[in-house]
Amino acid sequence: MVGMDLVMFLACIWVWNPMFAVANTDSSDVSALNVLFTSLNSPSQLNGWTANNGDPCGQPWQGITCSGSAVTAIKLSGLGLSGTLGYNIMNMNSLVELDLSNNNLGGGNPIPYNLPPNLERLNLAGNQFSGNVPYSITQLVALRYLNLGHNQLQGSLSDSFSTLTNITTMDLSFNALSGNLPESFNTLSTLTTLYLQNNQFSGPIDVLANLPLQDLNVANNRFTGWIPEQLKKINNLQTDGNSWSTGPAPPPPPYTPPPPGRRTNPGRSNSGNSPSNNNGSGGGGSSGISGGGIAGIIIAILVIGGIAAFFVIKKKTRKSSREEHLEDDHSFAPLNSSEVKVAEMKSIQTPPTIDTTSLHPPAPINLKPPPKIERNKSFDEDDFSKKPVVRKTNKTPIKATVYSVADLQMATDSFSMDNLLGEGTFGRVYMAHFHDGKVLAVKKINSTILANQRSEDFIELVSNISRLHHPNLTELVGYCSEHGQHLLVYEYHKNGSLQDRLHLSDEYTNPLTWNTRVKIALGSARALEHLHEVCSPSVVHKNFKSSNILLDMELNPHLSDAGLASLVPDAELQALDQSSGYGAPEVAMSGQYTLKSDIYSFGVVMLELLTGRKPFDSSRPRSEQSLVRWATPQLHDIDALDQMVDPALKGLYPAKSLSRFADIIALCVQPEPEFRPPMSEVVQALVRLVQRANMSRRMLSGDGQEASRRADDPDTQDYTF
Ligand SMILES: *[C@@H]1O[C@H](CO)[C@@H](O)[C@H](O)[C@H]1NC(C)=O
Ligand SMILES: *[C@@H]1O[C@H](CO)[C@@H](O)[C@H](O)[C@H]1NC(C)=O
Repeated sequence: MVGMDLVMFLACIWVWNPMFAVANTDSSDVSALNVLFTSLNSPSQLNGWTANNGDPCGQPWQGITCSGSAVTAIKLSGLGLSGTLGYNIMNMNSLVELDLSNNNLGGGNPIPYNLPPNLERLNLAGNQFSGNVPYSITQLVALRYLNLGHNQLQGSLSDSFSTLTNITTMDLSFNALSGNLPESFNTLSTLTTLYLQNNQFSGPIDVLANLPLQDLNVANNRFTGWIPEQLKKINNLQTDGNSWSTGPAPPPPPYTPPPPGRRTNPGRSNSGNSPSNNNGSGGGGSSGISGGGIAGIIIAILVIGGIAAFFVIKKKTRKSSREEHLEDDHSFAPLNSSEVKVAEMKSIQTPPTIDTTSLHPPAPINLKPPPKIERNKSFDEDDFSKKPVVRKTNKTPIKATVYSVADLQMATDSFSMDNLLGEGTFGRVYMAHFHDGKVLAVKKINSTILANQRSEDFIELVSNISRLHHPNLTELVGYCSEHGQHLLVYEYHKNGSLQDRLHLSDEYTNPLTWNTRVKIALGSARALEHLHEVCSPSVVHKNFKSSNILLDMELNPHLSDAGLASLVPDAELQALDQSSGYGAPEVAMSGQYTLKSDIYSFGVVMLELLTGRKPFDSSRPRSEQSLVRWATPQLHDIDALDQMVDPALKGLYPAKSLSRFADIIALCVQPEPEFRPPMSEVVQALVRLVQRANMSRRMLSGDGQEASRRADDPDTQDYTF
């Protein structure tokens, strides 16, 4: 058989070799087109195309244009094509035009995230793409023409369009897109044609007022407010089918945030070219207010009330925060109802700087394992507890600071794209710089998620979340619930998410060392253990994944989004999260999240740490796409483990530690929920792993090979937690 295979193999080389010899197309372009061809289900109607090799610039391939040996355009419109675009199309660096319009592409899948980086014309109109407009499209800086019309796109647009400095035509019509127009639209200073008709966009269109538009269609949406005067001069203007405000007078300023004391220009601090916003439309991101005069009057009254209340509250705040400082050890105690009421009162209008009395300066504390761990105290752990401990900011107060929309708008530069940190299941997260120098992270909850919630529910959620304290949980600092906007303010962690660190790292960041990976696993395990076994009632996280594990300066993990999942019913959450690769099999069937489904997701994150692979990666061969399915059969095979381990580790890991780590994973990702261990056992197992590793390091410290490995290892100390 081996002989046979060899003959076949040689035969293949013999067959293809001549092709290599005459081919003059760039090999990365050929490879991307080969993959595109198979991803399109090898359509016979594409003359000249092949699944292997070939010479698209030398021989005629239908729809391909080249310049020299580089492919510059792919035009395959209206050919009845189905399937997807393949996983390596982003390698086509010379491609300036991609036109796959009017086919049956996508089949309900999202537009691929990775597109050729230098595209000037992208036309995917008239297909079956669903999901969001990927953020990555707004990073195609050379785009002049973008057409995504007539698909099944949904969700709101990311506020990241200011990169598209050359775009002249944008067509997003006939989709199911919703939300306000992003404020960064007002930077599209070359845009002459904009088609947004037949979507579900809402809010005002003021951000378009100063664009050089000659052709604008916003018909059949849910836009409100007034049509700006400038736009009425456009020849080709379609605005029917919206809920415009009527009336003879020009629009009164819909809402100008009241100046909080010493600030001069509270509504805006955006120094960028955002001409249309000074009159308080607030742009896409954050206003949601267009109620005009009545709202203005109500707000004026609230402001006066707020200022009056301010002095009273300030006193109270000082007092209660002092009390809480004394109660440090009872930080899991629930908010009492009078505190919640104070918080609600303050939400009327209190700038955050006023409330900073409730934020104590960071104080280093020892990270003690949560109480449960004590029960199995072992030799290992005694020793372990003497190790250097994580330093962690201790924010004592339970109470969350109340922010106004204006405060947060100011701190985030009106939710500018420059401050966008990421996008989670529940909304986008922005970096916020406050007057007093604080840097925090602001999560803007998607309005669709809270559509059916009352603001009391949101306050209750906040009070629940504010009770969760653990050194490995991202701490809630404050919130904002105002004018239908719901935002949560968290501590900010400088090193981003584990997901970014594992899957998006560039040459400037060092890959995580094995020690750090173990440390991240243990810290995250402790966070989950706390939610599951210390909190009463238990908190099921439901959304445990590497993008929710944030890393601080010392790469300690902080689990975010704890308690947030209760915002949405399980079924909806599951729909949002489908095919992420983190969901336990029983969740897909029952639609119910449990402690055990969290443990499964935890095992998937451990697998990510071990392999450096994404839980689901459609760019890999089919058998390797699902990380769990690919990895679990090999977890007990030491040789296979060596092959599976993240190549970024460059072999720098202790084999024993790796195989123990793999054993823990195997327990967590078992298909039967009842066989998965409780989180406290996972923590124990990881603690033992760390301890043994430290002991064997000490014993081996004279060993030349081990010593040289350690010299390469940035964490030259023992594991520190
Ligand atoms: C925008 O167009 C100009 C003029 O054609 C060109 O020089 C510039 O490189 C383009 N910008 C980008 C980001 O491609
Ligand atoms: C904003 O208001 C000023 C006067 O207050 C007016 O001159 C200007 O045209 C307005 N801008 C927009 C975009 O409505």
